[in-house]
Amino acid sequence: MSTKRIVVLISGSGSNLQAIINACAANEVHGSIVAVISNRPEVYGLERARLAGIETQTLNHKNFADRLSFDQALMELIDSYRPDLVVLAGFMRILTAEFVEHYSGRMLNIHPSLLPAYKGVHTHQRALDDGAKQHGASVHFVTAELDAGAVILQATVPVLTDDTAETLAARVLMEEHKIYPQVVNWFCAERLSCKDGAAWLDGQRLAEPLQLKAEGL
Ligand code: GRF
Repeated sequence: MSTKRIVVLISGSGSNLQAIINACAANEVHGSIVAVISNRPEVYGLERARLAGIETQTLNHKNFADRLSFDQALMELIDSYRPDLVVLAGFMRILTAEFVEHYSGRMLNIHPSLLPAYKGVHTHQRALDDGAKQHGASVHFVTAELDAGAVILQATVPVLTDDTAETLAARVLMEEHKIYPQVVNWFCAERLSCKDGAAWLDGQRLAEPLQLKAEGL
């Protein structure tokens, strides 16, 4: 089995990127990150990539007339690296259907909620406002509908009485750093695929997302 080529897309701090970089360096992922692409210039995630000796690219969406032309240019840039897997790691862009279709079954995202709860933004504050007792993160295949693709693995954390959106986000982020490299590895090891809109692991269709429970639950 060949080492899989991974392209990671970011828009910010890149802590999930770092978790995947570390997992690759520790040989916990049968893959290597061949490029990190940001739509925002000078974000810290690009520095993380440089420090790890990974090629970086910035494609600023503000330089494009519309979403379609940006996504087209992004696709060309990604494809120049011939990736097996595209990993969205805090990539804050709504993607066109054409883009998503092009990477169908080979693009993953992490979302900071227990999907299907709290699609979209401000997930931590919304969980607090609802008085949710549990919250978490989900790794899923990307489909054209926002945060709606087949969920593979979730991590659940307790919501504490004195939580703010920031403390809750930090607790969720720590779990994100465990589940994202795990799922990337399953894909790279050819154990994970997406068929008929469902995630399959080791030949089994996942009727429900797999669960990682944090301490305190
Ligand atoms: C994470 O919370 C992720 O779930 C969301 O954006 C955040 C990215 O954080 N999609 P980082 O850039 O990986 O630190």
